[in-house]
Amino acid sequence: MAEKKQPGGEGSREGGLGPISRRDFAIGSVAILSAAGGDIRAGGIVQRAAPVPGQTARAEPGSPGGQISDSSRIIQLTVNKWKFEVSVEPETILRDVLRQLGFLSVKDMCNGYGACGSCTVIMDGRPILSCLTLAVECNGAVIETAEGVAESNPRLIDAYIMNNCMQCGYCTPGFVVTAKALLDRKPKPTEQDIREALGGNICRCGTYPQHILAVLEAAGD
Ligand code: FES
Ligand code: FES
Repeated sequence: MAEKKQPGGEGSREGGLGPISRRDFAIGSVAILSAAGGDIRAGGIVQRAAPVPGQTARAEPGSPGGQISDSSRIIQLTVNKWKFEVSVEPETILRDVLRQLGFLSVKDMCNGYGACGSCTVIMDGRPILSCLTLAVECNGAVIETAEGVAESNPRLIDAYIMNNCMQCGYCTPGFVVTAKALLDRKPKPTEQDIREALGGNICRCGTYPQHILAVLEAAGD
């Protein structure tokens, strides 16, 4: 088992990769969040990100550069307290919408077969697989990704860092989000609760024991 505490201050890696922020850790290997104001167009999705959390900006179907078809629908999403109106096709999956909105912690480790848990987000209080969720079914949904968990539960992120839960880090955001959903539902989970909650998350690097320690620590045990 890896050493639990690392010297050198919060989240640092002495002689290694250098300081790592909670937010970078939550996102995993990519540390970009492009939720600033302005239009973003890609892959059949046209949206305008609200520059201020809580402020909604409308999508503009048919606007120059967009790829809007007759079958597209506009949905409203609240993601980590940011409000979006997004034009999506009927077959567009939620994972792709979230990534194109800049929430790059939402991963894909199984080609969208629903087998790995790396795309997990919390939607209306429940952990779901965003790769198996059609975006058109999510109108009005309130969604939390790992970027949001870094803000709403920094204690959990700290516990993940201090317990060395990450090797390559690709699976980590999915684990973090699933653990956050468990703690929201059950602030003092047992080890068995944690094993069951995280049972759908796959880690190819084999970090499983560390997640148990991290969630117990975050729960204050
Ligand atoms: S990408 Fe693997 S479960 Fe969604
Ligand atoms: S840390 Fe590499 S897949 Fe989990």
